Amino acid sequence: MSSILHKIITKLNSKSAVIGVAGLGYTGLPLAIRFSESGYKVIGLDIDSVKLNHIQEGRSYISHISNSLICSAIDNGFEATDDMEIVKTLDAIILCLPTPLDDYRSPDLRYVINTVDSLLPCLREGQIISLESTTYPGTTDEELLPRIESKGLTVGRDFFLIYSPEREDPGNPDFTTQTIPKVCGGATEACLRVGLALYGQVIDRLVPVSSMQVAEMAKLLENIHRAVNIGLVNELKVVADVMDIDIHEVIEAASTKPFGFVPYWPGPGWGGHCIPVDPFYFTWRAKKYGVSSQFIELAGQINRSMPNWIVNKVTLALSRHKKSVNGSNILVLGIAYKKNVNDMRESPAIQIMSLLDRLGANVAYSDPYIPTFPRNRSHYFNLSSIKITSKNLEIYDCVVIATDHDEFDYCMVERYSSLIVDTRGRYRMLSEKVVKA
Ligand SMILES: NC(=O)c1ccc[n+]([C@@H]2O[C@H](COP(=O)([O-])OP(=O)(O)OC[C@H]3O[C@@H](n4cnc5c(N)ncnc54)[C@H](O)[C@@H]3O)[C@@H](O)[C@H]2O)c1
Repeated sequence: MSSILHKIITKLNSKSAVIGVAGLGYTGLPLAIRFSESGYKVIGLDIDSVKLNHIQEGRSYISHISNSLICSAIDNGFEATDDMEIVKTLDAIILCLPTPLDDYRSPDLRYVINTVDSLLPCLREGQIISLESTTYPGTTDEELLPRIESKGLTVGRDFFLIYSPEREDPGNPDFTTQTIPKVCGGATEACLRVGLALYGQVIDRLVPVSSMQVAEMAKLLENIHRAVNIGLVNELKVVADVMDIDIHEVIEAASTKPFGFVPYWPGPGWGGHCIPVDPFYFTWRAKKYGVSSQFIELAGQINRSMPNWIVNKVTLALSRHKKSVNGSNILVLGIAYKKNVNDMRESPAIQIMSLLDRLGANVAYSDPYIPTFPRNRSHYFNLSSIKITSKNLEIYDCVVIATDHDEFDYCMVERYSSLIVDTRGRYRMLSEKVVKA
């Protein structure tokens, strides 16, 4: 074993290594906290001054991460900064940066590449760089490796490069950063060894794979699997609706099969930073090889069409009440992309609100996780969350359940609303008042 390799593994095992996490968002912050509670000195890097201020004051900006977790991490020496100079002092730099799509639905690696470029002047011999952002197979090898080697460092000898995808499921109480098994691929055998030493101290089960590309594609497969199955069940919902069959009852019945069936639940489309985005990293990469991935494209078409289908159901439901969308007061319940979280990235609820607004409805929303919805570049709403009370519910011609947060009082909603369009199957007894969509 080379002395550099031996030194870093000894530092990791003795927990004297300093761990840096670049990107303190939905994935980076819980990871930083996990390393900190395991006994490492942790430095968080972010360019968002609002987030940095929150952390420095011990305040969380993520609904399922408590202030006390951040305060305990600070007590253990956790610091958050935008000062890249600190990178010189780090033994490991873990990148948890956004990987969105650009306007043409191609991978936008700007955040990852810009961050690596800004780290370069401060990188030194003996460091670990681990990319956790979701991306297409080949990214770490083609985009990170040559950049870092341009400093005259050789991978596997002078520095250690890893790809280990983030699998965080925000708001899921059954799993934690520690208990979610972690896939890990290294640029060389020595890199993999270092990767396993890094994560082995904080994650219960590691899954080493033979290359970074396998790790990159494994993450995409997980999300493609979800995207395609969500598309399938949304399509089946539309067909079942025409057949006058309750799709939720169908799924519940099918779910009793103890093997070979995985239930997916229909909804108003798809949302979040991952499922509507990541599969298209794969389709984009596949094009380079002259092949297409039709399941993904089809799932995209179906899931993207769902908000229109829901709005059509709202229109029909209002017509049955002798009302038109134009001029109606419509309350959308839940605008986060999924229940019990405060993340509204790519939320289909926003598309539903925009479509209803374009048809002339007076749109309002209620979401205990999102108190205000101010105007920004992607929409022109400027709203605050409406409190669910009997009086407030009576004002609206229609209530659309877009995201079924547990906090909502569904009995009260049913009692005082004049019309409910339920996109989540929250109500089983349908009537003139409760319509499934
Ligand atoms: N959110 C999830 O549930 C989830 C789950 C699994 C995987 N992922 C993947 O993890 C990656 C990160 O996603 P996220 O949801 O944590 O994103 P996020 O937007 O919540 O957090 C990213 C953070 O990176 C910061 N950042 C941007 N440029 C930076 C720079 N140059 N230096 C330092 N910080 C910088 C941003 O300010 C932000 O705080 C993505 O690839 C995503 O696909 C996300």
